[in-house]
Amino acid sequence: MSCRVLLTGATGTLGTALRPRLCDAGREVVAASRSPPTDGGTDVEWTALDLVDGTGIRDIVADIDVIVHAATAPQGDTEAVDVRGTERLLEAAADAGVSNVVYVSIVGVDEIPYSYYEHKLAAERAVEESPVPSTIVRATQFHSFVHDILETIARVPIWPLPTGIRLQPIDVDEAAAAIADRATPDAAGRVPDVGGPEILTVRDLAETYREVRGLRRPIVRLPLPGSVAAGFRSGAACCPDRTVGTTTWETWLEDENRDRDRLAADANR
Ligand SMILES: NC(=O)c1ccc[n+]([C@@H]2O[C@H](COP(=O)([O-])OP(=O)(O)OC[C@H]3O[C@@H](n4cnc5c(N)ncnc54)[C@H](OP(=O)(O)O)[C@@H]3O)[C@@H](O)[C@H]2O)c1
Repeated sequence: MSCRVLLTGATGTLGTALRPRLCDAGREVVAASRSPPTDGGTDVEWTALDLVDGTGIRDIVADIDVIVHAATAPQGDTEAVDVRGTERLLEAAADAGVSNVVYVSIVGVDEIPYSYYEHKLAAERAVEESPVPSTIVRATQFHSFVHDILETIARVPIWPLPTGIRLQPIDVDEAAAAIADRATPDAAGRVPDVGGPEILTVRDLAETYREVRGLRRPIVRLPLPGSVAAGFRSGAACCPDRTVGTTTWETWLEDENRDRDRLAADANR
């Protein structure tokens, strides 16, 4: 029997990794974005959906079996997108009789009082309280996310970093594989977390990054006061018992470096 899956956040880091996984699993994928690409290929059906103003939601959800909800706005109005937008999506899902809403969350949202995490937790609660059957899967930070932060820091000659913060980053493709497995009509409630293969401090992460990039910048400890930094230092963003991914930070960085060198060589040809 065919299973029609709506993927929100289909243009994002995770959404991009989820699209082929869902297709390979035989799902009929409706990929949603506020601005769907005009040349997005034929593997998935692209559609315009805006969680804030409601564009598209009800029409799209009407013939959907499963929703994988990966849209988010960490840099924007997280309450409007992640909380109110999720509630709007859930109302439409309830009216349409959707079998399973898979909500993607983050390890530690209930322990670290960072405003984005508080909104993710509020969204988790909305999912749990909705009459729609649901699955909540929390993941740790993606390697690419940690990498983007270090790329920004790397522009300055000295790297001031909260070195004691502990993370367990994961390859987004490995996270996507675990999340795509949940995109079935069988809702499972809160399922085990999805984390990377090793817990590393920000100092470890930055030193490996510096080595793989062949840089020589000094790393300086930036003391961060407050409960958010304390939460990250305590390891609340990690799930030591749930090392799902196998690609280490170092391996991921080396692959990324090779891709970058190849692109630079192609550009100079
Ligand atoms: N990044 C990480 O390290 C990480 C780790 C663990 C869990 N997660 C979770 O994984 C999920 C995906 O994260 P990500 O890093 O892939 O996010 P992302 O790259 O920032 O992508 C966000 C997606 O949300 C869509 N979006 C934003 N505002 C929207 C709106 N108003 N209406 C509809 N769609 C909207 C964007 O699409 P358009 O702009 O095209 O509309 C984009 O596809 C989130 O739930 C996040 O909390 C992320």
